[in-house]
Amino acid sequence: MNIIGKDIPRKDAELKVTGRAKYIDDLTFPNMLYVKVLRSRFPHAMIKDIDISRTKNNKGIVTILTYKDIPGVNVVPVVLMDQPLLAEKEVRYIGEPIALIAGEDKEATEDASHEIKVEYEELKPIFDPVLAMKRNSPKIYGKDNVFSHHRIRRGNIKRGFNECDIIIEHRYTTSYQEHAYIETQGMIAVPYEETMVIYGSMQCPFYVQDAVSKILGLPYNRVEVIQTATGGAFGGKEDVPSLVASQAALIAFKTRRPAKLIYSREEDIESMSKRHPAVIHYKSGVTRDGHLNAVEVKYILNAGAYSTLSPIVLWRGTVHAVGPYKCPNVKVDSYATATNTVPCGAFRGFGTPQITFAVESQMDELANKLNMDPIEFRLKNILRKGDRTVTGHLIKDSMELEKTLKKAAQIGWKIKKEESKDYIKRGIGVACNYYGVGLGAGGKHLSKAGAMVSVLGDGSVNFAVGTTEMGQGMETVLSQVAASELGIKYEKVSIVLTDTTRVPDSGPTVASRATVMSGNALIKACKPIKKSITDIAAKMLGCAPSKVKLANGFAGFEKKRINLDDVVSECFKEKRIMSAQGWYKAPYTSWNKATGQGKPYFIYSTGTNIAKVEVNLLTGEVLVKKIVAVHDVGRVINPQTAAGQVEGGVLQGVGYALFEEMDSRDGKIQNTNFSTYILPTSKDSPQIVSVFVEDPYPEGPFGAKGLGEQPLIGVAPAITNAIFNATGIRVRDLPATPEKIILELDSRQGKF
Ligand code: MOS
Repeated sequence: MNIIGKDIPRKDAELKVTGRAKYIDDLTFPNMLYVKVLRSRFPHAMIKDIDISRTKNNKGIVTILTYKDIPGVNVVPVVLMDQPLLAEKEVRYIGEPIALIAGEDKEATEDASHEIKVEYEELKPIFDPVLAMKRNSPKIYGKDNVFSHHRIRRGNIKRGFNECDIIIEHRYTTSYQEHAYIETQGMIAVPYEETMVIYGSMQCPFYVQDAVSKILGLPYNRVEVIQTATGGAFGGKEDVPSLVASQAALIAFKTRRPAKLIYSREEDIESMSKRHPAVIHYKSGVTRDGHLNAVEVKYILNAGAYSTLSPIVLWRGTVHAVGPYKCPNVKVDSYATATNTVPCGAFRGFGTPQITFAVESQMDELANKLNMDPIEFRLKNILRKGDRTVTGHLIKDSMELEKTLKKAAQIGWKIKKEESKDYIKRGIGVACNYYGVGLGAGGKHLSKAGAMVSVLGDGSVNFAVGTTEMGQGMETVLSQVAASELGIKYEKVSIVLTDTTRVPDSGPTVASRATVMSGNALIKACKPIKKSITDIAAKMLGCAPSKVKLANGFAGFEKKRINLDDVVSECFKEKRIMSAQGWYKAPYTSWNKATGQGKPYFIYSTGTNIAKVEVNLLTGEVLVKKIVAVHDVGRVINPQTAAGQVEGGVLQGVGYALFEEMDSRDGKIQNTNFSTYILPTSKDSPQIVSVFVEDPYPEGPFGAKGLGEQPLIGVAPAITNAIFNATGIRVRDLPATPEKIILELDSRQGKF
């Protein structure tokens, strides 16, 4: 039995549901200190004085540290190196770390944090990402508050629009989105002889290693980072765990005691990254026959006070700015601007959900103006094998968007009119998307992955990879890959905790890259071991090695079968290699910064969402009844975990579309917990029909592409397009709250 493509139970399911999995807050170490972060209460101010003289003698307080105590460099390393770990002279957002308090218990540190007197001199803040670029606005970064700018130039935009019969132009805005991982940020730093050992919840141990090493002034080989069970991440644990770990590590380094730092929900929401709010000016034009001929976009992201990952989030959004469509004339300009607000960063989709909302709203509107069915309109314009993207990338492999669109339409593109009551309007909407798998040309130097595999004397297997399990199912999928490759039973294969001393720097677990990158590295690591097993099995079976079949715990030749455990035991007696490393580097990618042309990603996943909604005209409430989500991810390794990714992504997309709104007033987030930041619950979940169309990607492990982020991206526009279909209302500012819908309805009284 081949276990690729089968519904194999999750490796981590039992541990997690029984509560035996060890999350960071479950761990304690002897003599451990608790850490609390003192944060700025102002969005923009000079720090005149920090008075810790009295507080540091409080009962239970062990030390209070500021930037002056940092032995290395005071920087959180990401892209532009503009963010300090602890503020020096100036604070730039509410929640910015100023000092670290260490105590024998949480209460002591909590009390101390209220007693420390910080003297500020307030500076003029800037909150609006568009105003931030204006000449007269306060400057917090460079001469124009622009952290990053990207562009695409293709064809002739002026001529392109002149050739169009229908042109539409609108402004779209999207809100912050909070990751809402169940487990908040947390780290423990443990000094062990000459090494600083870091345990915690994270997506990239190698980023954490780099940050801690820079802050403490230690070489990489004196910083060991071990990922503990991670309770959700969604991009929110890509770069920011570097801060949390460095804060704990600085205390541990200075006191020579283990230091634990777990963020409260309120401080996590206030100070950690989120999805960037966006302002998008979108203009697109079609010819009478329905061909997209020109697109002009200005895409602005509110990056917050420091650049963190914004340049790359913006780059990905720029690449995807025209969606999965052909268009000969394109002009895109995108900006990530600095404001005195919390720094934004990675969140499932990485700059793509915002722009996809604009793209798919425009496609729907163009189809409507053309009097054309939105599916038919998309079929005229979507990318197929042999087409070029708007960045000039010729698509050669695995691109089955058309199949996803047709399949989704077949399942969900109909509505029973008779079901509508007079105050309940029903509608359907569609959205397509594509998504570059992996870091692409924007993260070229990180596009690699390592794996280690050991077959042990009893025939069980340990493997380690540099990417991380954070709930998405990587452990399960990679166990299937290793088991299938070696022919060993799935039950005998285990992953070990991701640890920087075990595997080489494999970059971050982001960008839907783990299956492809670690899967390929793992297959390479299995090769020499598989050869040992095959050689010895051939001897035992009395045949040529090329004739041996390995599968599901057995080696076979013609009718003969022998147990692999016996073969493995024989391999050990023969002293054959049974442990090996594998290494995979991503295929070639390229990007021309001036023109935005090149091959930004080596492969794309694609998908279509169809939403069925009910809009209540009395309350403005939108009920999502059904989402049909059809995705093309190459080959599906585990349909059950894949469907899990889709269901989670859809629900996150429903939240993004309808509920999730962060109220930031003068740089202060008002809703810092889940009683006021409204998330979709199981009661808000639509019926989710998840379907995969398969077209194996030749370079992927068993033909797989990436899936992680894809399911969320097209959900919001499918819903807002369905709202239009039901009511004639175009929501151009996410989320589509009842208040917005009611206001629209009020302004069109008498239309229904
Ligand atoms: Mo993901 S948003 O690429 O961590």
